[in-house]
Amino acid sequence: MEPSTQKLIHTFGALADLGQEIAGTGDFNEMVRTSMHLLLGTLALRRGAVCECTAGGPLRCAALWGLNDHVFDGFEIDDADKQSFLKAEGTTAISNEFIERHRDKLAAEGIELVLPMVVRGEVTGLVLLGGKASGEEFSSDDFETIRAMVRHIGVGIHTHRLLEQLAQRAEENRRLYEELRAIYRDTVRAFAAAIDIKDKYTQGHSERVGKYSEIIAREMGWSEEEVEGIQIAGYLHDIGKLIVDRDIINAPYNIDAKNSSELNRHPAAGYEILAPINHPYADIPLMAKYHHERLDGRGYPDGLTDEQIPLGAKIVSLADSFDAMTTDRPYRRRRSFEDVVRDLRENSGKQFEGKVVAAFARAILKEVNGETKERRITKMLGKSYLEGDQVPTLLTDLISDLNNDPKLKKAADLRR
Ligand SMILES: [Fe+2]
Repeated sequence: MEPSTQKLIHTFGALADLGQEIAGTGDFNEMVRTSMHLLLGTLALRRGAVCECTAGGPLRCAALWGLNDHVFDGFEIDDADKQSFLKAEGTTAISNEFIERHRDKLAAEGIELVLPMVVRGEVTGLVLLGGKASGEEFSSDDFETIRAMVRHIGVGIHTHRLLEQLAQRAEENRRLYEELRAIYRDTVRAFAAAIDIKDKYTQGHSERVGKYSEIIAREMGWSEEEVEGIQIAGYLHDIGKLIVDRDIINAPYNIDAKNSSELNRHPAAGYEILAPINHPYADIPLMAKYHHERLDGRGYPDGLTDEQIPLGAKIVSLADSFDAMTTDRPYRRRRSFEDVVRDLRENSGKQFEGKVVAAFARAILKEVNGETKERRITKMLGKSYLEGDQVPTLLTDLISDLNNDPKLKKAADLRR
């Protein structure tokens, strides 16, 4: 093989290695170091450096070989220097103001060539090279190789910077998005407080329904995102009450048919309020609209049956009823836990979805048995409410009934 052909193959191999290095590595400094060593090794050069231009002006040496550390620190490169390097790109015998300014230092360090790395019409940095170890002069082929490799390294640095900017922007976007979500959550809580203030008998109701809904959804294996969404739906489920007359909401005993139908407008009204808002979670307006629907079709506003009711609405509905049964009202005391469990069993398959009730019962049982660290349900119900000896049995029996009762077989099927 002709020596020139051999050299060509060698150069070609070095370029391929360099390309792979630039494309493959995640570590920027490692990429620059290896690229520089490939360049020095290909031509057997004694020393060299790859320096990046920084925003402020001074060069930053990303890799050095055969030179003292920090030898080029403080080398300023201004816009005029960059322009002259741009003009000289593609040539090797560069002589310009920058080189003149640093001539003595460059000569003292044994630097013979200073080449700009140019990408998309911009100088991204400089490659400084010493002479060949053999003492030979550079041939025109050597210059070709040097120029090609310098271009490669420049592209590598440029790509790295773009990726860095991209990561920075993604991080900024993530932070902004988080902030927006936090604002949204705070607004929702403010709304929940406004709803609860209007209804003087059910203080904290919306907040508790949000928390119960979240606990049930998590027990049912919903994703964190979905769990957050249903918590919001719980906070907002009664938002439609904001448009119902305060006296009707606060009527202590039975209300007449006219007022009752006025009150029953609140789920549909809630939907009207929530639907135009762009929520970061799915289906929140529908969960509010259907939280008074029942599996047997006797609910409102649309009298939907079982499969027509979204699962989220079924969860909010159970959380809502559970809170209504377990809190005192001025005209009645709250019901005992035994009584509540009886109600849940009787109404599973009619008012409530069996698998939702089973999930809630499992979550309560976990707290009662001490399997859950945070005692959130206990906190909402008050310390003594779940203390009775019979509570674990009540819950275990309810869960097993929901899984075995043929009437509720569907609930068992769905639970799997
Ligand atoms: Fe409601």
